[in-house]
Amino acid sequence: MSERTLVLIKPDAVRRALVGQVLHRFERKGLAIAAMDLRTIDGALADRHYAEHVEKEWYPPLRAFITSGPLVALVLEGDQAISVVRALTGATDGRAAAPGTIRGDWSLSNRENLVHASDSPESAAREISIFFPSLEGSSTP
Ligand code: CDP
Ligand code: MG
Repeated sequence: MSERTLVLIKPDAVRRALVGQVLHRFERKGLAIAAMDLRTIDGALADRHYAEHVEKEWYPPLRAFITSGPLVALVLEGDQAISVVRALTGATDGRAAAPGTIRGDWSLSNRENLVHASDSPESAAREISIFFPSLEGSSTP
């Protein structure tokens, strides 16, 4: 079943000039880019996107990081795109993420881990509507 998922290529990846290589992995897998935009988000948008984390003790530094410079927001589309993109992305902590994943190959941090990817159909629909309100969301369960 074709799904859509929200991906953020985070400010660390933009600063490190890894946008092309990250995109290449998704494209090479067979996923299609349904929308894409380079933008710098403000704290209010970060709070909406990371609503489930705003009360965590590590949220203030995450908020500072995600608003620290431009990121690339995109919607990827394809068969089981949500779980496929999470698998390509790897575990949250780049130090523990498996080699061969984006985080496993290029991140040495639990925060600056290069990419965000929606973790469920509900998250994908919610996050796509935040970043691309004019785009039809991921298939709702
Ligand atoms: O991104 P993912 O769904 O894998 O992880 P999360 O647990 O939902 O956390 C969201 C983001 O918060 C992570 O991708 C990290 O960038 C950041 N984070 C952090 O700054 N410090 C932590 N202790 C855990 C996560
Ligand atoms: Mg998450």
